[in-house]
Amino acid sequence: MSIQKYDVPGPKARAIVERDTKHTSPSYPRDYPFVIDHGRGAECWDVDGNRYIDFAAGIAVLSTGHAHPEIVKAIQQQAEKYIHISSDFYHELMVALGERINEIAPMQEDVSIFYANSGTESVEAAIKLARYATGRQRFIGFLGAFHGRSMGSLSFTASRFTQQERFFPTMPGVWHVPFPDPYRPLFIMPPNADAGDAVIDYIENVLFAKTLPPEEVAAVWSSRSRAKAVILSRLRTFSRACASCAIDTASCSSRTKCNRALAAPANGGLSSIGVWSRISSASPKALPRECRWG
Ligand SMILES: Cc1ncc(COP(=O)(O)O)c(C=O)c1O
Repeated sequence: MSIQKYDVPGPKARAIVERDTKHTSPSYPRDYPFVIDHGRGAECWDVDGNRYIDFAAGIAVLSTGHAHPEIVKAIQQQAEKYIHISSDFYHELMVALGERINEIAPMQEDVSIFYANSGTESVEAAIKLARYATGRQRFIGFLGAFHGRSMGSLSFTASRFTQQERFFPTMPGVWHVPFPDPYRPLFIMPPNADAGDAVIDYIENVLFAKTLPPEEVAAVWSSRSRAKAVILSRLRTFSRACASCAIDTASCSSRTKCNRALAAPANGGLSSIGVWSRISSASPKALPRECRWG
């Protein structure tokens, strides 16, 4: 069987990429020179007419596929009524969306919703909420995670050093720990040891013992997309351990109650929407799922 080779990027795509380099900021990290013309469902076409299957789904946030007819219709209908009124005023759709999210949100309590324009903005809002609600300043993040490129979220982002290069200082107070990745564990472990336990051990017995006062930690930051990458492992063990050790130890000495705990928004599933529950005195069991990670 012969493999058919395509001329990609084609001449139209190459011309657009060349024009792009003149006036578009080089800070956009392009993966390859694909220039979209249109998409339908799971497929998309480039400007030269080449047809692709879109496995990336708009960085995993286009769960309805390209140009879903109902979404196109809703956008058209709304654009004809009004496009912008700002958050200084009320509108019924905002309320209706909040009610719907509250219905399907996995938390036991009613949720209070803050709408953001992007993933990074939702992370910024969660950082502020964590500090405001706990009165604490410091955080724990994970090596390998991506949380965005604005100053607060960038301080958690640790997937490539180039994202940090020449932007120091970012927000102070973030300690990075290895993510429990059983395929590429950063700690030397005995055979069949749990990668999650090794990270918890490091947080408790090295970080908290040597450099990071646990009672000053406002939140442990994790992203769903990072979590998905290692979901095969005993991540749940790690998640539960975090709820009772990292967050709980940070919040109280008895380990039986967790006064306040926060978590970053579920960016993977709800790209532009940060969702969290009202933060109040709560036992670890009563914490919303995002805080428990479980
Ligand atoms: C987990 C996670 N958080 C935050 C972001 C930043 O989102 P945005 O590019 O919309 O600011 C991303 C983007 O890929 C992400 O994957």
